[in-house]
Amino acid sequence: MAIYRKLEKEDKEKLVGIFQQPSAMYDYREFDEDALIADENCNCIVIENDGEIAGFASFITYRVPTKGLVGRIEDVIVDEKYRGQGLGRGVMEKIIEIAKEKKVSLIDLTSNPKRAAARKLYESLGFEIHDTGVFRLKIK
Ligand SMILES: CC(C)(COP(=O)(O)OP(=O)(O)OC[C@H]1O[C@@H](n2cnc3c(N)ncnc32)[C@H](O)[C@@H]1OP(=O)(O)O)[C@@H](O)C(=O)NCCC(=O)NCCS
Repeated sequence: MAIYRKLEKEDKEKLVGIFQQPSAMYDYREFDEDALIADENCNCIVIENDGEIAGFASFITYRVPTKGLVGRIEDVIVDEKYRGQGLGRGVMEKIIEIAKEKKVSLIDLTSNPKRAAARKLYESLGFEIHDTGVFRLKIK
């Protein structure tokens, strides 16, 4: 069974292994678990599948003068060995739930055109691609 929970200090080592997988190659050098855990505007969600760390996503909130409180999603990833089982969709749904609780007006994210699976996932959740290349989901 999958759960979606807050980041804990001990998660870093496992997450770094996932960030380094060939299909992701995320640069994790700025990943500061203490700062992330302390930052109430940065919601770091760890995916646990049957007790194993299986992925990550983060949701950052900030205020834009003409849009009010908005959210941004960064660093979505599922461990290669757990893909295709609904965990990516699950963590995105968790973030949309948090976005609604926090009453943001919209969620933005960007995604490299090469990331076909991710882009299909975002579109299936109702994100619309804008001329700027941003994927946006209106919440309000
Ligand atoms: C994108 C990613 C997070 C999806 O995670 P996942 O757990 O495998 O996704 P799910 O099983 O929840 O699938 C959700 C949807 O994604 C899309 N999808 C998933 N795998 C896909 C594939 N191989 N090809 C095309 N679409 C795919 C589908 O729309 C799928 O919905 P469906 O099952 O109803 O058809 C994962 O592939 C990943 O970590 N990729 C590498 C890192 C990355 O690209 N991150 C996003 C950066 S913007």
